[in-house]
Amino acid sequence: MKRRGERIVMLTAYDFPSARLVDAAGADVILVGDTLGMVVLGYDTTVPVTMEEMLHHVKAVVRGVRHALVVADMPFMSYQIGADDALRNAARFLKEAGAQAVKLEGGTTVADTVRRLVDAGIPVMGHIGLTPQSLHQFGGYKVQGKTPQAAIRLMNDAIALEQAGAFAVVLELVPSALARLITQRLRVPTIGIGAGADCDGQVQVFHDLLGLFEGFVPKHTRQYAQVGETIRTALAAYASDVRDGRFPTEEQSFSMDEKALTELKTSSDRPEHTNGKNGTNGARRSAHPSFPALPPR
Ligand code: KIV
Repeated sequence: MKRRGERIVMLTAYDFPSARLVDAAGADVILVGDTLGMVVLGYDTTVPVTMEEMLHHVKAVVRGVRHALVVADMPFMSYQIGADDALRNAARFLKEAGAQAVKLEGGTTVADTVRRLVDAGIPVMGHIGLTPQSLHQFGGYKVQGKTPQAAIRLMNDAIALEQAGAFAVVLELVPSALARLITQRLRVPTIGIGAGADCDGQVQVFHDLLGLFEGFVPKHTRQYAQVGETIRTALAAYASDVRDGRFPTEEQSFSMDEKALTELKTSSDRPEHTNGKNGTNGARRSAHPSFPALPPR
């Protein structure tokens, strides 16, 4: 696609319904991002996300996807401890969850690990710039690569990832001009998020794009819908309909055969008091085998 000048559309998804929607919308790549820690699981950062949580969500996404490439995000500390550990964890995403590739954060420092995974047959997407798992090191969600030294470091990181065999590189919160230079320098595609219009593709978080994540709208996002507001309004309407007796109506209810109803009424009205003599302790025996005994009056 890069060679043909076609822009790559990448979106996150975290479960079966979001995967179906994103796939049906024609996304080329679906990332099961560790942002799920924040937008789905309610953590403050992506740092606490575990392998088991990621696997659970990747499996659900894979079940909903027909066309897009599914990339599983490797969570914090699933690839930093050592290449063996990284390989074992990355393989789980392909073998157990059905993803087709993994993504991990970092540049030159993770290049050997990337090579190890690629050599084992695992497609790897890189991720540099603001890498949220290192949030505490950066001291916040800040644009990266703004000084010449930092920009050179990012360029070297991108090249190291390409040389290690990464098939694409995410550039997050990088000045547009630097992202353009990196994109021109690499043969593999760059996927930007807050990295300007000249990347080979763009990625956005499902909840950000749809107005589903309360409170914070990142500057790099355009909200295409206010789904959170729509859901809130719909649920409030349901609650007031239940409270005021407007839901359910006949339309949402089920009828019963008149004959069966008459039989039921007749049998349950029949006075069959046993006064405990047959061991039912005063309960009125139901004449219909499907209905439980009625409690004593
Ligand atoms: O976890 C994620 O969703 C990501 C994207 C923001 C690139 O890494």
